[in-house]
Amino acid sequence: MSDLSATPSADSLPNPVIRLDGVDLRHGAAGGDPRLDDHRSLTDAQLRRRRDAEQGMYLAESPLVVRRAVAAGHRVRSFLLAEERLEDLADVVAACPEAPVFLGGEDQLRSLTGFRMHRGAMAAMERPREAAADEVVDGARTLLVLDGLTDHVNLGAITRTAAALGVDGLLLSPGCADPLYRRSVRVSMGAVLTMPWARMPRDADGGWATAAARLRAVGITLVALELSETSRSLTDAPVAAAERLALVLGAEGPGVSASALAAADHHASIPMAEAAGLDSLNVAAAAAVACWELGRRPGLG
Ligand SMILES: C[S@@+](CC[C@H](N)C(=O)[O-])C[C@H]1O[C@@H](n2cnc3c(N)ncnc32)[C@H](O)[C@@H]1O
Repeated sequence: MSDLSATPSADSLPNPVIRLDGVDLRHGAAGGDPRLDDHRSLTDAQLRRRRDAEQGMYLAESPLVVRRAVAAGHRVRSFLLAEERLEDLADVVAACPEAPVFLGGEDQLRSLTGFRMHRGAMAAMERPREAAADEVVDGARTLLVLDGLTDHVNLGAITRTAAALGVDGLLLSPGCADPLYRRSVRVSMGAVLTMPWARMPRDADGGWATAAARLRAVGITLVALELSETSRSLTDAPVAAAERLALVLGAEGPGVSASALAAADHHASIPMAEAAGLDSLNVAAAAAVACWELGRRPGLG
């Protein structure tokens, strides 16, 4: 592997530019560059979740998301780019002159990462400091509380919708998926990098009583979104008129936990067509409908 400035745009960069041509990309290969480990084995979700958290990093994938990650002020560890992407991202890359740029063809990127890279651009980023729940709650009028959601695609889709429809922040229960896992970041189009979010601890018995009391103490109404006997329509007055509101969304299988239902001030639902014979909406679809409705509250929008 050698530092090189073979293409005209690579030439003008202040960064170390490293071509993957002829490099043995297998893990642990003699002469391999350990910085490439940040970009390996991306299809092994379990390994990557553990490794990324241990290393204090996350992956920004696609030119748009890389651009947003840098704009969010996060530090780049390295870029991995298809040759033809360098020109599009040259301004972003040059703004991070200490970060090495690994340049390769499609086959090299695939053998390194294990899959066909989304639009040929990725950056390994330093994880930012996680906010405390109070920082996210402070001043917020509309919050989403994610109760044990485990699917990274749903988490990304919900965050993108929430950002687009005026939600101020997300609170995650301890078991929730990682917003900075590669697929969440990509599906959110980078919205997880700018949407305020924090983990909201639960009581030792797994209950929501303390968390709910903290929210209520600052004037926030807690609404559990769930199809249940006790739910009223989301458009009903107590929900529609709440000055500050936190909407709890339930996990993909089990729905909103019993303890969150017990702690909530109201239960709200999105009425569904009975003839369809379906139990529920996908949680990201339910979140989209609900965020739209909550954005119509007086004084918002
Ligand atoms: C897929 S559902 C959970 C499974 C659901 N309890 C069931 O038995 O089919 C995931 C979450 O989406 C939200 N959700 C989906 N459809 C909904 C609806 N029609 N009204 C209110 N919430 C809904 C709730 O927050 C729910 O906990």
